[in-house]
Amino acid sequence: MAQVNRAPTGSGPLDVERIKKDFPVLAQSAHGHRLVYLDSASSSQHPQAVLDAMDDYYATSHANVHRGVYALAEEADRRYESARITVGRFIGAPQPEVEVVFVKNATEAINMVAATWGRANLQPGDAVLLTEMEHHSNLVPWLMLADERGLELRWIGLDDGYRLESSDLDRLLDGVKLVACSSMSNVLGTIPPFARLAEAAHAVGALVVADGAQSVPHLATDVHAMGCDFLAFSAHKMLGPTGIGVLWARAELLESMPPYLGGGGMIRDVRRDGFSPNVLPWKFEAGTPPIAEAVGLAAAVRYLEALGMGQVRAHEVSLTAYAQRTLTDRFGDDLQIFGPEGTEDRGGVLSVAYRDVHPHDLSQVLDQQGVCVRAGHHCAKPLMRRLGVTATARASFYVYNDFSDVDALADGLEMAGTLFS
Ligand code: ALA
Repeated sequence: MAQVNRAPTGSGPLDVERIKKDFPVLAQSAHGHRLVYLDSASSSQHPQAVLDAMDDYYATSHANVHRGVYALAEEADRRYESARITVGRFIGAPQPEVEVVFVKNATEAINMVAATWGRANLQPGDAVLLTEMEHHSNLVPWLMLADERGLELRWIGLDDGYRLESSDLDRLLDGVKLVACSSMSNVLGTIPPFARLAEAAHAVGALVVADGAQSVPHLATDVHAMGCDFLAFSAHKMLGPTGIGVLWARAELLESMPPYLGGGGMIRDVRRDGFSPNVLPWKFEAGTPPIAEAVGLAAAVRYLEALGMGQVRAHEVSLTAYAQRTLTDRFGDDLQIFGPEGTEDRGGVLSVAYRDVHPHDLSQVLDQQGVCVRAGHHCAKPLMRRLGVTATARASFYVYNDFSDVDALADGLEMAGTLFS
């Protein structure tokens, strides 16, 4: 085994020692060790500011939204709608007040696009272009629609460096109506050249869905610069609560789409023989929406903005580089990292195979050391097949991780190597 080179203390561009104190969950220990949370790609933790915002909303301002004309309900309306503006500005939405639709999560957002825009615009034989690195949220809705409508699904492959294969793109795009692609892979960390892909898609008249579940929490986002027509993401991967996500789309697209779920809130009028839909964005928000969750998401956005998304990215680049170096130095060929080399076009997600130790065993040994990673197929079974594995162990970083967390990961892997040798 190579000599262990530990990092100088610290973590790069963010003051992680201070940030860790903002996250109550990180103060606890696990199996007698400090908790090292390396599973933020699955779901991130919450700073006190997010918990306080939701608490305060429930303690002082809760009523149903868009229904009451008393002061308490008007305050609930104000907090809910101002959350929409905060979130919309965070992603560069030109018209946040109409283009940001609150949904349950990124999965629901993509299902909504498939069920509304897709059903209204895709005919039998039409082609939808996906990639081999998508996770199930951006696969299954298209598989379902393909079954229902007789669509052709095409696939952008991966090259040996775990990047999208671009050499065949013109042929794949020919005649395509929709391109649906992750803006950061949850398994590989790969950040595709999204704007270039979108430009090529638009050149053949196709629309573009960005699955931003992984990228929005970690990269500064500007829907205009990305060139996407739809963007889906979840709050719970960006320091916000579970139960709320966002579909952003250009206003004219949302206008043209039929409603998704039917019920209260999404109508302007209902008669015995029909209904007329509400205006944007409420046309797509049937039933009582996730009000406290929207307030929590806005607080998460404010927390990230206070750190600065440029700093968040720089921090994760430095952690990822340190992790790549550390794991390679300490484990050499015994450990395989599935993802692009370097840090320029990859996020802070490290999926690994270590000798022939099963990822679940790795995860359990790491858990005994207080280190939380995800083991499994990461909701990306076609990608696992492409990689020739059934599962990986995946560590994923966020603003509250530092170099010592990477060292704890490496120490845990070493222990697993000893136990299973
Ligand atoms: N897509 C989520 C993950 O990567 C659930 O863990």
